[in-house]
Amino acid sequence: MHRKSLWMLVCGLLCLPLVAASAQNSGKAADAAGHQWWQNAVFYEVYPRSFADSNNDGVGDLNGITSKLDYLKKLGVDAIWISPCFPSPQKDFGYDVSDYENVDPMYGTLADFDRLAKEAKKRGIHIILDFVVNHTSDQHKWFLDSKSSRTAEHRDWYIWRDGKGPDQPPNNWVSDFGGPAWTFDPTTNQYYYHFFEAAQPDLNWRNPAVKDAMFDVERWWLKRGVSGFRLDAVDTLFEDPDLNDNPIERPGKNALGDPIEENKYNDNLPEVHDVLRGLRKIADEYDGVLIGETWTDDIVALNRYYGDGNNELQLPMDFLFATVNKLSPAEFRKQIAAVDAASGWPTFVISNHDIVRSYDRYGDGAHNDQIAKVMAGLYLTLRGTPIMYYGEEIGMTTTPPTRKEDVKDPLGITGWPEEKGRDGERTPMQWNENENAGFSKATPWLPVPPSYKTHNVADESKDPDSVLSFYKKVLKLRHTNPALLDGSYVPLNENDQNVLAYLRVYKDQAVLVALNMSGTEQTASFDLSKKGFSGVKSLVATEKAEAKGETVTLGPFGVFIGQLAK
Ligand code: GLC
Repeated sequence: MHRKSLWMLVCGLLCLPLVAASAQNSGKAADAAGHQWWQNAVFYEVYPRSFADSNNDGVGDLNGITSKLDYLKKLGVDAIWISPCFPSPQKDFGYDVSDYENVDPMYGTLADFDRLAKEAKKRGIHIILDFVVNHTSDQHKWFLDSKSSRTAEHRDWYIWRDGKGPDQPPNNWVSDFGGPAWTFDPTTNQYYYHFFEAAQPDLNWRNPAVKDAMFDVERWWLKRGVSGFRLDAVDTLFEDPDLNDNPIERPGKNALGDPIEENKYNDNLPEVHDVLRGLRKIADEYDGVLIGETWTDDIVALNRYYGDGNNELQLPMDFLFATVNKLSPAEFRKQIAAVDAASGWPTFVISNHDIVRSYDRYGDGAHNDQIAKVMAGLYLTLRGTPIMYYGEEIGMTTTPPTRKEDVKDPLGITGWPEEKGRDGERTPMQWNENENAGFSKATPWLPVPPSYKTHNVADESKDPDSVLSFYKKVLKLRHTNPALLDGSYVPLNENDQNVLAYLRVYKDQAVLVALNMSGTEQTASFDLSKKGFSGVKSLVATEKAEAKGETVTLGPFGVFIGQLAK
């Protein structure tokens, strides 16, 4: 099944958590509550093409990011994850890396990277890089050598096989980007394997030389000062060596016109965990964090990615939470409880560069700004690490292309019109009301959505009721309130169909969070005295949200966050 469609599916049944939550403390400096830096940090994904363009060529760059560090600091960001900025033919906009140890000239130079890292460090912001571990570009020197002859030094660094017969690939596996996952190369009369585009050949992680080379890349960047990595498509590292055909999941075709397969033999193979333990060992030497694009849709699989004794990923992005695509207190409660009881530290993500933005997924078209605040009030106050996506804090919308000739994303080019691709969630950051939303003086690589007139950093900074001001308030609170930093998660009123409410309890302190997920006014009463608390003091609240005694009244899509006293 296509990964983007997976994203959009509301999760099916959840397996019950097997293991109780525990801290994971193999890194170095822990705070008084025993937490590592990344547990209390707020992460923010920057899509470098679209964030800020310092040299006015229409594409964002590293110096652009450096110029916005003060903005990020004020917003309350502690770590930025930069989507790939390495040399690349840009067939999949950087997810096709042709040199792991350099910066693509369109984004700047290594010196620019060093300056960014230095300036970020000055402000206490960590840099996380996107490590594309599953595949390289077909222009990487390893692949160019690999394809040159069957006896080339790097031949076995990729996955080459004979076809089943003339014009018949080795098996039925389909690429996530459409068509067969095998491409025939006439130079050596064999097929090579690619989970994604043909321009993204899969590395052969069964070859120890590949492992060594990739571990060296990890060390190279850690030594240069990065604080960790987001491991791209890490679930796809291994394939069945016997190349068994994948079972057909259901009849019919997916949006790209291919059979709908279950990725039984080319995804989530157990061997990936050995690699993760290796990558983690190295990360630990530098107090680094590993975030994983793991695509788990149940807790058993999620726990496996934390590893036995938390020796694999610190922050696997489970997507259980993000697959709740409607404002449903019951669904969120279920997913939060599951993730909260998993064996590692929770990670919460509501948007990224591969999925429709949260503003559109949850918005009802009439109360989108209020709903954006509800979502911020939710995932920024849960126990766990939130990973924001650029523009989410100002309520950016997904704006897909309307004509096929405008599509840039390879997925949209193949899938048009059913699958329009991911350009819509990658449009330029909206800084102000000026030309091109202040992103660039040149025509941006993707058009700026019309919403920049109403949703931009400059205007929203001046408006105390804006989505941006709300994010800033909640993030400020999150950084300073002990219960929000370290408190346990205690669900309240679990049968309420409209209001999602919970406590975060730390020692004798607690914070109450009440989120109205409906378009009508709601009142919720809580047995706080029974839990040993009395009185609620508002900390952050939207208009018409207030507490009287143990009762909270919330306007449509209202948010109330209050401090409880003993
Ligand atoms: C991941 C990335 C996505 C990319 C794919 C191939 O899913 O998030 O953007 O296209 O990997 O690298």
